[in-house]
Amino acid sequence: MTDLCLGVIGAGVMGTDHALLADGFVSGVRVAAVTDVDHDRAAALAGRLDGARVAGSAAELIDSVDAVVIASADPTHAELTLAAVAAGKPVLCEKPLAPTVAECAGIVAAEEAAGRRLVSVGFMRRFDPVYVRLRQSIEDGTVGRPVLVHCRSRGVSSAPGATSASSITGSAIHEFDTVPWLLSSPVVEVAWWAPDGDTDGLRDPQLMLLRTADGALTTVEVFLNAGYGYDIRCEVVGTAGTAELPPSTDVVGRYPADWRPRFADAYRLELQAWADAVRRDEPPPLADARDGLRATQVAAAAIASMESGVPAAVPREAHAAPTATRGRRSRRVVGRGRLPTGAKEVSPHEPTD
Ligand SMILES: NC(=O)c1ccc[n+]([C@@H]2O[C@H](COP(=O)([O-])OP(=O)(O)OC[C@H]3O[C@@H](n4cnc5c(N)ncnc54)[C@H](O)[C@@H]3O)[C@@H](O)[C@H]2O)c1
Repeated sequence: MTDLCLGVIGAGVMGTDHALLADGFVSGVRVAAVTDVDHDRAAALAGRLDGARVAGSAAELIDSVDAVVIASADPTHAELTLAAVAAGKPVLCEKPLAPTVAECAGIVAAEEAAGRRLVSVGFMRRFDPVYVRLRQSIEDGTVGRPVLVHCRSRGVSSAPGATSASSITGSAIHEFDTVPWLLSSPVVEVAWWAPDGDTDGLRDPQLMLLRTADGALTTVEVFLNAGYGYDIRCEVVGTAGTAELPPSTDVVGRYPADWRPRFADAYRLELQAWADAVRRDEPPPLADARDGLRATQVAAAAIASMESGVPAAVPREAHAAPTATRGRRSRRVVGRGRLPTGAKEVSPHEPTD
């Protein structure tokens, strides 16, 4: 099998990481081109890669490679993903697929019109070894039927210009994919709160309560300016016990400032799984465009709750099992046992596909 000739759009923090990973730690891949609206940044990245050139534009890059990684700013994702789909190129777009529901729906429609799976979304927690173990503890019945999930996502400081809405579509979006993936159950309702205090349009921390179709409740804390370090936690409380991620401290209990080491394995495993599938012309085992749309629909409901002050329902069309669980909904955990194959979900929010 020949190597996959890859192009990376966006040569910032994540684009650089993806390109260096692909270049040095992912097999069967060659980074052939990089591009960035900041040409110097693209040139600096190309200089660190073995044989990559700087493409003059995203369009030129897409034309010249087999597959594309999009790691540019969130508002650029829709246009660039649509360009890759129009060119028939498999694309791994960093999260979010796009910040608005309309943009995500447009991508889903474009991919459907193309007639084949082209879009994958970089919800890399699905590949993080400890998140995978946490999910297994639900799948194998160890914790029983999940009733509560507590997610905490804290960072050192927010990016310049961050707003409450961008922190929902850009940060909380991880939980809006992770929770349905963990529970094999879609989010149906969201309520948003924040402590008093607003700094230039950013309420921080934010607290959200998610209700999933299985009846479980999830608390989501997003605290961008926690100051002390990067700290990701998740606990699943079930009828038979509890399971949680190990702390992300170093040996002396300090939390790192940089988020990338915490998810280094996840980024690498995600990229390898995507490249392997693309090379074999198989559907990648990553979140797909519909997962990206659903996560953004949950984000839209969170923003609606923030603006209205009351809980917001997630539209029914968003209620579908995430890709990793599609086709095996009968494995829903009930107590220590499982529903038999073909058994009906009790929730009125049963997914339709
Ligand atoms: N999966 C994760 O854990 C994770 C973590 C951080 C960031 N991200 C996502 O990755 C993406 C990049 O984030 P980052 O932290 O690297 O940001 P960054 O600001 O460091 O880099 C973004 C780069 O994109 C370039 N760019 C902007 N518009 C462009 C366009 N139209 N064409 C080409 N280049 C363009 C900018 O010049 C910049 O160099 C964002 O979508 C972000 O949400 C994901």
